[in-house]
Amino acid sequence: MSVFDTPVDRRGSDSVKWGRYAGRDVLPLWVADMDFAAPPAVLEALRQRIAHGVFGYGQPPAEAEESVLAHLEGDYGWRIEREWIVWLPGLVTGLNVACRAVDGSVLTAAPVYPPFFSAPRHFARPLARVDLACSDGRWGWDWQALQAAVMPETRLFLLCHPHNPVGRCWNEAELRRLADFAERNDLVVCSDEIHCGLILDPDKRHIPFASLGPDAARRTITLLAPSKTFNIPGLGCAFAVIADPALRRRFQRAMDGIVPHVNVLGFTACAAAYRDGAAWHGELIAYLRGNRDRVTVAVDAEKRVKMAPVEATYLAWIDVRGLGLASPAAHFEAHGLGLSDGADFGAPGWLRLNFGCPRATLDEALRRFAAACAAA
Ligand SMILES: Cc1ncc(COP(=O)(O)O)c(C=O)c1O
Repeated sequence: MSVFDTPVDRRGSDSVKWGRYAGRDVLPLWVADMDFAAPPAVLEALRQRIAHGVFGYGQPPAEAEESVLAHLEGDYGWRIEREWIVWLPGLVTGLNVACRAVDGSVLTAAPVYPPFFSAPRHFARPLARVDLACSDGRWGWDWQALQAAVMPETRLFLLCHPHNPVGRCWNEAELRRLADFAERNDLVVCSDEIHCGLILDPDKRHIPFASLGPDAARRTITLLAPSKTFNIPGLGCAFAVIADPALRRRFQRAMDGIVPHVNVLGFTACAAAYRDGAAWHGELIAYLRGNRDRVTVAVDAEKRVKMAPVEATYLAWIDVRGLGLASPAAHFEAHGLGLSDGADFGAPGWLRLNFGCPRATLDEALRRFAAACAAA
């Protein structure tokens, strides 16, 4: 029995995921947090911080910065300077600040996490969208379409790496081609790497886009956080890594007056997670891999639905167009399963299933999934 098998009742708590279906028999497998308690080391560090009792305005503690430096070097071989770090209360803030900081129009690849569409809109930046290609059951880039989507005024490329929702861990060849593309078209790359700690396949590894070399580094804003990996998104602690001083200043100026400081508990959790969370993280990945495999089997058993391999994240991106439903999310909800509607990601007819939950919950969810498919 794994620690992740133990259910934590989140009903009636402050959970946005569980609150949506309060009082209804609907299992929420939508918004991207997990139904697992944070690592014991994080809980203990928070207890100690709370015992201090004073919660005045905070500044980034050295232990948080050191934990970031050690994590990036230890896990990815990426050596950064302390001053490259810009702390943020969340990655969505970072996406919005990037759109505010960089003039011109924006390019992104769909389907994608909805704030990639809304952030450019908030600053009246025109957005060009290129569709990712799914061929031979695997998601990838349509290089011709990508080049065709670039306009002379395109200045910012929003990259999701690993990709939510298609679950790809972009490999070195793909990343190098994207870096060449950015160089050729003189684009700033905002690389959202929030899911980088959730690579499920042992033969794959996360390569930070900016770590490809000095050319990639000088045009990149990397957005990172311990939040997805260690299941602490409610603590609001994230950061950008920006090597180029001029680009960093532009980003910081765009934050002025509108972006609040990170809260002190977020810093404490971040430091503890990166410093002391490795064993918990190893167990988590093994558990999520098992959940991913169960979802794959359940989807493969349905003739009319499809899913490409999930290499990273705890999110399965499922093509249910074959069921011929007018409103797929509503249909599955009526069968007791709350999934994310693909339309929000730019792909009607698809659903996203969050398998970051105890196996008992997942097995019940997959029973409901099969029943919903049979009823369509
Ligand atoms: C790709 C991606 N970026 C950002 C976020 C949210 O980041 P934050 O909660 O730090 O704003 C998510 C959450 O699901 C995500 O999947």
